[in-house]
Amino acid sequence: MTFNLSILRIRKPSFLGVLTFILLESPTLMLYYACSVFLIMVRALVTGGCGFIGSHVVEKLILEGFQVLVIDNLSTGRAENIHGLKPIDLITKDLNATGKDIIKFNPDYIFHLAAWPRIQPSFADPIEHDIANVHQTISLLQAARECKVKGFIYSSSSSCYGDATYTPTDENHPINPLNPYAIQKYAAERYVNVLGNKYGFPTVSLRYFNAYGTRSYNPDNIYNAYSSVIGIFNHLKATNQPLTITGDGEQRRDFVHATDIASANLFVSSRIDNLNGSVFNVGYGATHSINEVASIFGGPRIYTPMRCGEATITHADISKIRSYGWQPTISLEYAIQHNLV
Ligand SMILES: NC(=O)c1ccc[n+]([C@@H]2O[C@H](COP(=O)([O-])OP(=O)(O)OC[C@H]3O[C@@H](n4cnc5c(N)ncnc54)[C@H](O)[C@@H]3O)[C@@H](O)[C@H]2O)c1
Repeated sequence: MTFNLSILRIRKPSFLGVLTFILLESPTLMLYYACSVFLIMVRALVTGGCGFIGSHVVEKLILEGFQVLVIDNLSTGRAENIHGLKPIDLITKDLNATGKDIIKFNPDYIFHLAAWPRIQPSFADPIEHDIANVHQTISLLQAARECKVKGFIYSSSSSCYGDATYTPTDENHPINPLNPYAIQKYAAERYVNVLGNKYGFPTVSLRYFNAYGTRSYNPDNIYNAYSSVIGIFNHLKATNQPLTITGDGEQRRDFVHATDIASANLFVSSRIDNLNGSVFNVGYGATHSINEVASIFGGPRIYTPMRCGEATITHADISKIRSYGWQPTISLEYAIQHNLV
């Protein structure tokens, strides 16, 4: 439970805790609860927190006891994605216009997920995508400098590797973006590293592979055809439609669940001083072809032409982040069987 004290929120002791204290009248407990009453929560800003992955990061932060501010212009996200989560504040503005709001909130950590994250639309409108994906990251880094943040965690993308020349692909694989979105994610990653160093706060970039999970498919989003194939299949199956497969369906993807991505964000934030400047792959470390995924869902299929600018295989080598102790926990089969998609 929380209540406002100026702009900060403080944690109240639980009813059970107070009861225990009264029963035991222990000086140690009294000290503990006195501390917890005045414990100031760690503040986390999540940009794009109403989006698919962002809402999972928000959920995890709340569970871990953070006070969270979400900034989201709802261009592809939905406020319902974080409905009911507390303590949380939501500012529904474009990130570029929120410098003062950020400075007022004064976050300890920034988790930057806001982006226009679709490959094909980035070909149609590369300038607007550049503003959303690169310029706004620079603005955010400048606000982060004012706040003297303790850590900045950037959501980057495995799309920067392009068509991998070897798999599993580690972080040293050559960069070869095949579309404007991938160029922008990589450019922003470099800004995060260079400006973070210059401004004096630690940064980490996480290169996600193919994310899936609950809330990935937004029926109101005009770009939903480009969202995770798992979410699309789930929607098609639920509405008794055939599964639509681009190309021959033999392209392979490393599917990583959004709750695992959220846990990777918190994992690196908790040891960011030691990881400063690092880039980590975040995947499951295994691949499925789209045909294999369709077989898990079952039912009729339709094949449509292959789209340009998309890799034939993504497969993460996650040994670097594993070596620090993080690992994914949810397999694709488990997620589909247990309705976590
Ligand atoms: N989904 C994937 O498979 C995947 C893979 C690699 C990297 N990523 C990265 O992860 C992040 C989250 O992706 P997602 O799949 O959850 O996408 P999403 O579209 O569901 O979420 C993006 C969120 O950012 C918000 N947003 C966009 N532009 C904004 C702006 N200018 N100001 C404020 N809010 C803005 C949107 O409204 C949305 O809520 C992105 O940075 C994306 O590049 C995603």
